[in-house]
Amino acid sequence: MDSRKDEIRVSKSDYEIKTIGVIGAGQMGRGIAHVASLAGYEVKVFDISEDQLKEAISGIDKNMARQVSKERITAEAKDVAIDRIKTSTALDIMADVDLVIEAATEKEDVKRKIFDDVCPILKKDAILCSNTSSISITRLGAGTDRPERFMGLHFMNPVPVMKLVELIRGIATGEDTFSAVREVAVRLGKQTVSSEDFPAFIVNRILIPMINEGIYTLYEGVGSVSAIDTAMKLGANHPMGPLELADFIGLDTCLSIMTVLYEGLADSKYRPCPLLVKYVEAGWLGRKTGKGFYDYSGDEPFPTR
Ligand code: CAA
Repeated sequence: MDSRKDEIRVSKSDYEIKTIGVIGAGQMGRGIAHVASLAGYEVKVFDISEDQLKEAISGIDKNMARQVSKERITAEAKDVAIDRIKTSTALDIMADVDLVIEAATEKEDVKRKIFDDVCPILKKDAILCSNTSSISITRLGAGTDRPERFMGLHFMNPVPVMKLVELIRGIATGEDTFSAVREVAVRLGKQTVSSEDFPAFIVNRILIPMINEGIYTLYEGVGSVSAIDTAMKLGANHPMGPLELADFIGLDTCLSIMTVLYEGLADSKYRPCPLLVKYVEAGWLGRKTGKGFYDYSGDEPFPTR
């Protein structure tokens, strides 16, 4: 397995990571802060919105409470972990962190602006990772002051539940950076796979075109929303059908990833389904906006077409 290959190739890092900064308090940033604080790291979360930060802490509190009620963690471990998370709307909070994980919107210009702003604040040897689900790590790293201390660290949603993280080296990523980040992923209890730096890496290269095909299946009238999801849940043993999963990931994120694949691989087989584009244009982005392929305003989600 790939992690074993990494085990053989990767030497131990001398760089000690005690404090982790998370940029962006959306669903991924919250999940990363959750697992990092439970693993004993000091966690600093930045977001431009105070409300988003408040929601993040109450969301993490709720998810940890669920773990307490299932006796996965103790109430004391939860309280200590919540205390370890500090939040701010000022980027200065990143001044003393050892590792930053950027988990902002999946838009290259947004990420680049964040790196421009945060790099002058960071310690010289701080490692910078992006949780991007598709954008070139080499290109992102090249735009920073530290390409050798930059790499991709890609978590899956929901972060506390999903066992995998993808590790992506940019062309300039140093081996010490890779080892240090891999050690963090292992301490977070994750299984690692390393992916070469090509559009959407491994998971999303396979998963998002499958979801896009599910949307085409709806668009072409082959099946209804519930027929498509039921078919894939019961016919392929997927935990969620492709449309339910698209809503869960966020339709804007699905569209961004398809666009990166389409443009990055220049192959028409990756063209985003027009129905996906239309939903995003409508602002129907899935669960996070209360409406996507399903409407989430009632007790049970119901299909919107
Ligand atoms: N935080 C902590 N724990 C959570 C959680 C969260 N946000 N959400 C669910 N859980 C836990 C529950 O407490 C429960 O724990 P136990 O097994 O200990 O009881 C467990 O997860 C299962 O949850 P539920 O019983 O509530 O719900 P479920 O059985 O329907 O499972 C699910 C929910 C785990 C999300 C499951 O439907 C699933 O695996 N779906 C597919 C998710 C997936 O494919 N994710 C990858 C998306 S792609 C991606 O993330 C990459 C990208 O870049 C786009």
